[in-house]
Amino acid sequence: MPEPRLNQRFAIVGTFVHSSNEQSLLTLQDHCLGVANGKIIFLQKWDEDLLTLLQEHNILPESVIYLKERQFLIPGFVDTHIHASQYPNCGKGLDEGLLSWLHKYTFPVEAKFADLEFATETYSKVISRVIKNGTTTACYYATIDTDATLRLCDIVDKAGQRAVVGKVNMDQNSPDFYKEETTQSFQNTIRYVNEVINREYQLVKPCITPRFAISCCMDLMKQLGQLARSHHLHVQTHICETRDECTMVQKLYPESKSYTDVYEQAGLLTKKTVLAHGIYLSKEERETIKKRRSGISHCPNSNLSIRSGLLDVKGCFEDDIAVGLGTDISGGYSPSIMDAMRTAISTSNTIAMQRGPSYTPLDYKDVFRMATLGGARVLDMDDIIGNFEVGKEFDALVIDPKAAGSVIDVFENDSIEDVIQKFVFLGDDRNILKVFVAGRDLSEKSCVEPLNIS
Ligand code: GUN
Ligand code: FE
Repeated sequence: MPEPRLNQRFAIVGTFVHSSNEQSLLTLQDHCLGVANGKIIFLQKWDEDLLTLLQEHNILPESVIYLKERQFLIPGFVDTHIHASQYPNCGKGLDEGLLSWLHKYTFPVEAKFADLEFATETYSKVISRVIKNGTTTACYYATIDTDATLRLCDIVDKAGQRAVVGKVNMDQNSPDFYKEETTQSFQNTIRYVNEVINREYQLVKPCITPRFAISCCMDLMKQLGQLARSHHLHVQTHICETRDECTMVQKLYPESKSYTDVYEQAGLLTKKTVLAHGIYLSKEERETIKKRRSGISHCPNSNLSIRSGLLDVKGCFEDDIAVGLGTDISGGYSPSIMDAMRTAISTSNTIAMQRGPSYTPLDYKDVFRMATLGGARVLDMDDIIGNFEVGKEFDALVIDPKAAGSVIDVFENDSIEDVIQKFVFLGDDRNILKVFVAGRDLSEKSCVEPLNIS
């Protein structure tokens, strides 16, 4: 395969699989997709006159990638909630519920990022891992450390991934070794946001990140809400993840009607707000979230691993709330959105078993859309990414079900839908041959090797 570079015009010929608002799965066979300056310029069925089509768009015959039989192209995965800073703990320390887990494992590892060398090494590892697993866009939590968070932005930028990145705010109910004073926390956030904007990254944006209502006072949250709204910034936080957490929030904010009302009072709920988990939201809270057009990040692996609960995604969809998928490393143990797709199905099946036959669980098409277009919508980026609509940026994965080491067996009578379904349930990074972000091929070696930034 040729190696397309940014600013190059190129085309891909083969099978395309994506979603739309109306349809969770669309399969387009024998199609040709053109890319110029990182954007999709056409997508259409091709016939014998492929050369004319390419000429019309100034694409050279040597700049065409022909997918092999059974290979297909899908939009890149969107991870709507991942703690890059918890990667050293990925796959361990899952023996506690949320609140004690935070104190026992999570705050101690996040505190280590005050060491820039440790931060550089660790962030490089996690970024290269998630790109290998097909995450083209991620919504990252870093830590309270401003410089280390800026370092994460540099690393993501250099790797070519699309991301929103947050410096975490914590000024209460946190250990002395891992919190900031209210004023300092806000001032550092302003410095962080200004610095990210000044660096003029192409694909990396800042995110306002009050950790959750337990670890931020109302004053701080209000200042952050004001900053987010005045600068149209992304916002991320946690909400209604466990029962103990909800009880504590009610105690801390007795004047608020609900957990959601705390964030509503702080002015943190916008269409650019990602709320992680949302398992125990009431009907009324969901109404507020819908009204504000905020989105929910469903993190099924984390919800099962630290035993938080089961999110009723179908119920959220019925209430017209956008839901995407998150790995929530390291509450979740897998860095892969493919794992999140499967675990979302298992969670939904579990709810269906509890509720009986009137409940229709999520299917493979639903989770495929959540992993791509749904995640883009949660991040308020569905006007630029999420599917192969002409005009959107070209973030895509070349999938090979028959790649070396693949655990998928494809049979002759398997339809394209069968193969996609097998990929959703059995696929892994070995099946992801190429990762494109804004037309750039990140699978090129330079992008995934550990980065040396001094
Ligand atoms: N709530 C507050 N902080 C965290 C975190 O780091 N992980 C998860 N899963 N929930 C949280
Ligand atoms: Fe989280």
